[in-house]
Amino acid sequence: MTTKVTALVTGASRGIGAAIADSLLEAGYRVAGTATSQAGADAISERLGSEGAGFVLDVADDASVTAACDVIAAGLGEPLVVVNNAGITRDNLLLRMKPEEWDAVMQTNVGGLYRLCRRVVRPMMKARFGRIINLSSVIARMGNGGQSNYAASKGAVEAFTRSLAQELGSRSITVNAVAPGFIETEMTAKIGEAQRDALLAGIAVGRLGQAQEVAALVRFLASEEAGYITGETIHINGGLYFG
Ligand SMILES: NC(=O)c1ccc[n+]([C@@H]2O[C@H](COP(=O)([O-])OP(=O)(O)OC[C@H]3O[C@@H](n4cnc5c(N)ncnc54)[C@H](OP(=O)(O)O)[C@@H]3O)[C@@H](O)[C@H]2O)c1
Repeated sequence: MTTKVTALVTGASRGIGAAIADSLLEAGYRVAGTATSQAGADAISERLGSEGAGFVLDVADDASVTAACDVIAAGLGEPLVVVNNAGITRDNLLLRMKPEEWDAVMQTNVGGLYRLCRRVVRPMMKARFGRIINLSSVIARMGNGGQSNYAASKGAVEAFTRSLAQELGSRSITVNAVAPGFIETEMTAKIGEAQRDALLAGIAVGRLGQAQEVAALVRFLASEEAGYITGETIHINGGLYFG
């Protein structure tokens, strides 16, 4: 590609999203990274330097998505690569799960996908090029006690991905999901030591994954070379689960 493509990464303040933003920047994209706070957005701007910037965006809020996307388009250009990475957990056994815990996970992990994709697909259709990459999780396939809300949300991410891929394929827009296993981030830092040991015993390569390893996969799916892969969920879990 001769001109710089703008890539948008939600939840780029830390963890997997930060690694994806850094990797896409290194690959030559102009990168818009988002956080939920101004301090987070400022830190992203500082990290990305002159070819990227941080923006405040709450994927659970319609007005926030619209406003942030308009500012990003005006400042960096309409993004033709969009990585829906923002995601949360609110773990609880179903019997104890509060409606707020269910709703927060659905509004962020699934609703966020709907809101952001609806805003970004039109410019991609006009450009006749686009890459949408959605973060799922191995939990969508394996299930996990205490995470029924999270598992349901990530199952929805994968189903959404397959449907949108069918809608947009004729415009050379691909839509894929990436389903990480257990990656070393703040999300997995909450796992206790005993649980971590049990977990490691079930992972073929015997370790947690690194955010940079997920970023490398996302970077490939964003590339022009990946144009014949769409509607897929690509697993990256060190052999914890064979999809
Ligand atoms: N870590 C893993 O092992 C693992 C495994 C499988 C799948 N995943 C998926 O990978 C993605 C990233 O995970 P992670 O471990 O890197 O997460 P993380 O370290 O907890 O970071 C979450 C990111 O999402 C942002 N975010 C949270 N709520 C948001 C909202 N309403 N609107 C916009 N952004 C929001 C956060 O922004 P702030 O900093 O502003 O809060 C932060 O940048 C998630 O979708 C997660 O489900 C992770």
